[in-house]
Amino acid sequence: MSASTQDKARDIYIVGLRNQHAVENQAVELLERQVGRLENYPEMAERMRRHIAESQEQARRLEDLLGQLDTSHSTLKDTMASFMGNMAALGHTVAPDEVLKNTLANFAFEHYEIAGYMSLLTLCEAVGHSAGRSALETSLREEQDMAQWIADHIGPTTLRYVERTAAGQTAGV
Ligand SMILES: [Fe+2]
Repeated sequence: MSASTQDKARDIYIVGLRNQHAVENQAVELLERQVGRLENYPEMAERMRRHIAESQEQARRLEDLLGQLDTSHSTLKDTMASFMGNMAALGHTVAPDEVLKNTLANFAFEHYEIAGYMSLLTLCEAVGHSAGRSALETSLREEQDMAQWIADHIGPTTLRYVERTAAGQTAGV
């Protein structure tokens, strides 16, 4: 990689870290909005609470990585992927099938985060920021675990929603 390409990669890496930081904050907000309305899905509420704590830690990890890089000389826009606005809108949904819609949206959101960390790991290596690798890998694994947990619960959550709807217990869904 040429020196100018290396500089570019570094800028893109820093922007990526900032974007991912914004994504993590968005994740915390999304999950916090949902978690209080999941009294009929206690297992999901508990897993979400754990992931809120993980996401807060992931945001701190990203701050550490940004702190390790000398970002003061870079001219960077603090951009935020517009995708996130759409995802956030999904989190506002209040409908009888809210739990289903949110579960599908959360699954998509986790994969958005996974893609972000995969891209950051590539950039981390491209710019030779070897100190950043394990933090990014840890966060990536946490997102993959959360995505897998959601995947495992899409079916059971769907059936529970059907049962509750059939029983006429729509409150608190
Ligand atoms: Fe996260």
